[in-house]
Amino acid sequence: MTQLGQAEFAQRRRQLMDAMEPGSIALVPGAVMQRRNRDIDYAFRQDSDLLYLCGFDEPDAVLVLVPERSQGEVIMFCRDRDARAEQWDGGICGPERVAERYGVDDGFPIADLDDILPGLLEGRRRIYLTMGEYPVFDQRLLSYVASIRSREAGGAIPPGEFVSLKHLLHEQRLIKSEAEIAIMREAADISAQAHIRAMQNCQAGTTEAQLEAELIYQFMHSGARHSAYPSIVGSGANACILHYTDNDSTLQNGELVLIDAGCEYQHYAADITRTFPVSGEFSPTQRVLYDIVLAANQAAIAQCQPGAPFNAPHEAAIATMVEGLLELGLLQGSATDNIRSETYLQFCPHKSCHWLGLDVHDVGDYRLAGEWRPLQPGMVLTVEPGIYIPADVTVSDNQQSSKIRGFALEDALGTGIRIEDDVLITETGCEVLSQRVPKTIDEIEVLMRAA
Ligand code: GLY
Ligand code: MN
Ligand code: MN
Repeated sequence: MTQLGQAEFAQRRRQLMDAMEPGSIALVPGAVMQRRNRDIDYAFRQDSDLLYLCGFDEPDAVLVLVPERSQGEVIMFCRDRDARAEQWDGGICGPERVAERYGVDDGFPIADLDDILPGLLEGRRRIYLTMGEYPVFDQRLLSYVASIRSREAGGAIPPGEFVSLKHLLHEQRLIKSEAEIAIMREAADISAQAHIRAMQNCQAGTTEAQLEAELIYQFMHSGARHSAYPSIVGSGANACILHYTDNDSTLQNGELVLIDAGCEYQHYAADITRTFPVSGEFSPTQRVLYDIVLAANQAAIAQCQPGAPFNAPHEAAIATMVEGLLELGLLQGSATDNIRSETYLQFCPHKSCHWLGLDVHDVGDYRLAGEWRPLQPGMVLTVEPGIYIPADVTVSDNQQSSKIRGFALEDALGTGIRIEDDVLITETGCEVLSQRVPKTIDEIEVLMRAA
């Protein structure tokens, strides 16, 4: 159950229904169980659109919104109660209790969808649905529409338009309410504690999986039952694999370890990355590289303010990292040319920002009418610049000569550094939700020394 009250969900549904065309209907299918292996399922995760609109957390549900329907606008189809199933797998809400528990107007058994939904569709001009998410449901819907069409001569009125629900609903999800922000602060705080715990328990001989265990311990201990995504714990050159999740190497002194991990708290995600030395002390070369990525992270966060285009933080991060890579001799020529020709992609291959919310890569358009959209208060995005120097990078004679003292290219090969924060846009600028995790070299070394 979520800490969000029924009033919040009712307000979200009202907002969506007010934005829908008159005479329309919206269909929001929920997630289904996924088999992992014989007799075992993956942990259930509800569809985020359905969660957003009602908080209902069981498989096999469909939420239907029918604005201005006199017998009730909000209808939930869900599993019937079943004593045997509940004995094995836990409680089922059931259609008779769903109205009281979730504030919807009416509940029906999901088994009756074929009988009831065609009647709700008939006479509605427009159907809103995010197509392609649940192909089995899409097929069923098309068969309902076909059956209404087959009765057209007898007076049945089939829906004429299918419109993606995404445009209305995902724009709404993009701007977080005060209640959502409070939950996301908590998600970031719990994840911050987990990163700190991992730094404190890091030493040579520890495995990456053991550090992952520290993260999961802290998530669960602090009330977050799940990780928002598989934790990335990459030591040494493993940090150059962007979505590395094998987590099966043993940490060695002299290496850095990159942890990209966040919990899911009350269904909202945190997404934080820190990179720190296994020994607790950065080498001279690591310090130089780390400070470039840190400066990029800070330059990007400085761009996180209302009115700035979505891409401004990324552009600031790239400009900072290109300057740094030029000074190191890893890039040659002018900053402008390198940015224009994207030569930096060999060391900085990914974008620096994405929306964050119920989904780690949350919904909402990044561009409006072809232009990067302006940031607005209530949006939450990540800021995550990174530099990765592959172990097998081809190095020209030119590149051997760094202008920065203490930096040695041979020591940098196989180094990956990413620093990722979660940032809320406010009326006056931004709030870094993940600020409790140490980020500067001094902060990290002090914490690890004290452990
Ligand atoms: N953890 C995935 C990402 O940073 O986008
Ligand atoms: Mn991440
Ligand atoms: Mn991210």
